[in-house]
Amino acid sequence: MRADPRTPKVGVVGSGLVGSTVAYTLLVRGVHCEIVLVDINRAKAEGDAMDLNHGIPLAAPLSIRAGDYADLADADVVIVTAGVAQKPGETRLELLQRNAAIVADVARQVVRHAPGCILLVVTNPVDVLSYVAYKCSGLPAARVIGSGTLLDTARLRFLLGEHFGVDPRSVHAYVIGEHGDSELVAWSLAHIAGVRLPELGPTWEQAVHDGALQRIFEQVRGAAYEIIRRKGATYYAVALAVARLVETILQDQRSVVTVSTYVEDWQGIRDIYLGMPCVVGWSGVERMVELPLAPDELQALRRSADLLRRAADEVEPIIAAHRPGAAGGDGSLPSSSGVGAVSAAGERRATQ
Ligand SMILES: NC(=O)c1ccc[n+]([C@@H]2O[C@H](COP(=O)([O-])OP(=O)(O)OC[C@H]3O[C@@H](n4cnc5c(N)ncnc54)[C@H](O)[C@@H]3O)[C@@H](O)[C@H]2O)c1
Repeated sequence: MRADPRTPKVGVVGSGLVGSTVAYTLLVRGVHCEIVLVDINRAKAEGDAMDLNHGIPLAAPLSIRAGDYADLADADVVIVTAGVAQKPGETRLELLQRNAAIVADVARQVVRHAPGCILLVVTNPVDVLSYVAYKCSGLPAARVIGSGTLLDTARLRFLLGEHFGVDPRSVHAYVIGEHGDSELVAWSLAHIAGVRLPELGPTWEQAVHDGALQRIFEQVRGAAYEIIRRKGATYYAVALAVARLVETILQDQRSVVTVSTYVEDWQGIRDIYLGMPCVVGWSGVERMVELPLAPDELQALRRSADLLRRAADEVEPIIAAHRPGAAGGDGSLPSSSGVGAVSAAGERRATQ
């Protein structure tokens, strides 16, 4: 539990469809916090703050305002949703170059004002951009978290719940790897009430035989494309996923959630961010759950990691220019300012 009685501060950088819906979701869920909206389009952030404030008497007492980076001082969590979104037919990885420069800059700006924060990256491609934010912020890896496959996992649980006729909250199944085309389901570990799906007997065999599980997986993997084709963007479910993460952090819930986390060296996967179940609380990612995957699942996860590794290599020049101490970047941090050192020292508020 947090020992600090101060109202927690949550920053949202990028008050677009996702960012403003995250703020709305925090309001409606009554998450106790102060929210600061930052956007290069200041008028948009101000308009959102006004609109959301008018709902406060009808929801929960909260403080919501538009601001700039200085207003993120001492923020506990900063959500990064700034950047461009997918257009119909576009893959998440196609957004990479455009959004990497934005996220690298945002990460540095945020850390100058809120060195004790947890950076929660949502902008796509979220795994590579979490890696970019980690490298450019100088924060410890535990405090740079991507929303990862949390949304995909929710989509999977919803569809499996429908298929097997049970409440999706009673379905335990994870989508892991890239939040994108190379993601996979850890089917061998999926279970309902402790009964692993492959042990469900005829029900499972029927689902495998008639291709229902493959169709469910394809629906999960293709969900963003289908929604974007119909209405141009996705924002409700992702906002719920992010609000859930914020609650997990602020309330030190230590919930197991599939977030994009830094894998330094595990099962041949090195120096990359990807989606895995993690225990998340006030200090960020407390630990990654080392899933005992089936050999074919591990192979698929490695393939996903390889793809993300190649994508990360493509943005290495951007990372190099924005790294703590780099001569380039936004020029506002002299090389001796030691963002990394400040952050590594851990300025996060005390917990008990
Ligand atoms: N990880 C997920 O599960 C998930 C789900 C949905 C969307 N997304 C991603 O979230 C991102 C945002 O999507 P959206 O639909 O809200 O887009 P949007 O275009 O509605 O909003 C983006 C906002 O970012 C702002 N912005 C751009 N550059 C900025 C900068 N340098 N500093 C501050 N603000 C800046 C824009 O002014 C805009 O308001 C996209 O990359 C999208 O792909 C991720």
